[in-house]
Amino acid sequence: MTNIIAIANHKGGVGKTTSTQNIGVALSQLGNKVLLIDLDPQANLSDAFGFEDVEVSIYDALTEKAKAPIVQIRENLDLCPANLDLSVAEVELSGITGREYVLKDIVDTIKKEYDYILIDCPPSLGLLTINALTASTEVYIPLDAQYFSMKGLDKLMYIINQIKKRLNKDVQVAGVFLTQFDNRVIVNRNVAEMIENYFPNKVFKTRIRKNIALVEAPIEDKDIFEYAPSSNGAVDYMKLTKEIQAAHS
Ligand SMILES: Nc1ncnc2c1ncn2[C@@H]1O[C@H](COP(=O)(O)OP(=O)(O)OP(=O)(O)O)[C@@H](O)[C@H]1O
Ligand SMILES: [Mg+2]
Repeated sequence: MTNIIAIANHKGGVGKTTSTQNIGVALSQLGNKVLLIDLDPQANLSDAFGFEDVEVSIYDALTEKAKAPIVQIRENLDLCPANLDLSVAEVELSGITGREYVLKDIVDTIKKEYDYILIDCPPSLGLLTINALTASTEVYIPLDAQYFSMKGLDKLMYIINQIKKRLNKDVQVAGVFLTQFDNRVIVNRNVAEMIENYFPNKVFKTRIRKNIALVEAPIEDKDIFEYAPSSNGAVDYMKLTKEIQAAHS
């Protein structure tokens, strides 16, 4: 069975893209066949792998202009890139019947080739994120350990529960992880405790520490394992990925 995982949080800048990239690379290094789908019009995930302003993107597949473009970027690792065209997809799709299932239909045709498909969601709860949640078997929520992160969680859980009820009964929040974590910061420690209470048994043990190499790597079109293999970022993402893999074995 293919594990289809939406990496979602409508709060911006919490580490969705950084996590999609590096968990994806780590899963592929552990021998899994992985597809990453960039579903954010900002196209940060595509940029992070060196695919800027691609001509054909997931937008063309969602709007039936072309087949989903899939490029191999590493051994065992493929990418379906985004571009800015995707910013009008929500408006274009809003009038069609079955608009919540468009991505699912695309994913269903390609999923058998993969062990894992990770979907990098945009920072909103609009139609693109709803398509990601409808196409997925699981949702992972990255959270930066700030008080504001707690504020949006009720809204996010409400949307996920609505999708469970109406569009995709199988989807579940399978994991929550903390990013940009600094154990010396009291707020970070307090929020970590609050999150563990909010999501009992869902929070991964591995916390992704604040690490400048994670900021620098995508600027060089590299993942963290290429850019700084002994950095805290590389160590933490490999550890988190092993937890994720263990949860599926
Ligand atoms: N562990 C970390 N340590 C330090 N910086 C980080 C870490 N994780 C992510 N960042 C940086 O924080 C910023 C936001 O991260 P990222 O783009 O992954 O978040 P996002 O949730 O995808 O954002 P958006 O909501 O805009 O899509 C980036 O500049 C990224 O390099
Ligand atoms: Mg992002």
